[in-house]
Parts: sequence; structure tokens; C-alpha cells
Amino acid sequence: MAVAVCTAGGHAVLADPAGGNPDASKPPQPGDHFVHLTGPKKGAVVKADDLPLGGPQIQAYPADPKTGLVRDGSRLNLVLLARFKPDVLAADTRPLAADGVVAYSGVCTHQGCPVNMWSSDQGVFYCSCHGSMYDPRDGAHVVGGPAPRPLPALGLKMNDGTPVVSESFNARVGATQAHT
Ligand code: FES
Repeated sequence: MAVAVCTAGGHAVLADPAGGNPDASKPPQPGDHFVHLTGPKKGAVVKADDLPLGGPQIQAYPADPKTGLVRDGSRLNLVLLARFKPDVLAADTRPLAADGVVAYSGVCTHQGCPVNMWSSDQGVFYCSCHGSMYDPRDGAHVVGGPAPRPLPALGLKMNDGTPVVSESFNARVGATQAHT
């Protein structure tokens, strides 16, 4: 049985913030960096060195580096960032990563909960709602639980130690079935 540790915020983080700027609801755009959602660095730009090698993940939102606008106007913009040695990444995952940093949607594909935990014994993302697990080294493929498909991935590049979006999500973000 997985031993899961909470990595950050819980369900409340997915409450849609009030706001009026439509750019805040746009999905991650090429050139966006990320800001920490929680913890002592909340609101700060995510640096690769902030990410512990080998996990766990951190939760973040994309942000426009030119204006500082954080794209937290949509719950679907929650992103997970994690860092691994590049040689442990699957061949299909490596091209999307930057210096071993990978980025995925933080919204579970089962019923849309935030994926906010980490299985320390299996080294995978863990959704505490119903126990889905995703392997971040291998395209966030489902390795346990009821999730029907992987977490969508973002392409990254590294800009002076800062992970930056290079490619949009490679699949539709969000739950596959209605949240009941
Ligand atoms: S919503 Fe994540 S496992 Fe059900």
C-alpha cells in the first residue's frame, strides 16, 4: 500500500478565484514561467533548484513573465512540477523535460481533484480522492487507481535556471467523467 505524503494545498486550491482578467484564465502559454502555489515561497517564481531531485512535486500556476499576471483564473491551470535525473525519464518524456524537470496538469483525470500528494514508496504522484497514481518519469501514465488516462504534459525549456513553458498541454485537461 502506498505511503502518501501531502505535498501542498488541498481541495480549496481549486476554487475558482474571482477575477476579471481573461488572460488569467488562459491555459499555460509558451514563455510562461511558474509561481509557487503554497509554502514559504508562495507567489515566487519556481526555480529548478526549488524542486527536490526525485520528487515530490510542487503545485504551481503559470504566469506571464512580462506582466507578472498569474494564470490562476481557471482551476484547470494547476500544474505539477517535479525534477529527476534526465536518464531516469522515459524516452517519450525526455523531449518535454528541461534538465530533468517535468510539468503536468495538476487536475486528476478521474474526477478532477487536485493531485496534491506523493507516494514516497513508489515515487509517483498520488491523488487522495480515490487513489489514482501517475508516474511522472513516464508521461504521467496511470500506474494505479481509477484514472482513465495520463495527466496532460507541458513541454518545458530552461531559462537561466527557471523552467519555462515551450509547448502547450499535449491533451485535454480535466476530468474524464463528471464530478458527482
Ligand atoms: S479524482 Fe483523482 S482519483 Fe478520483
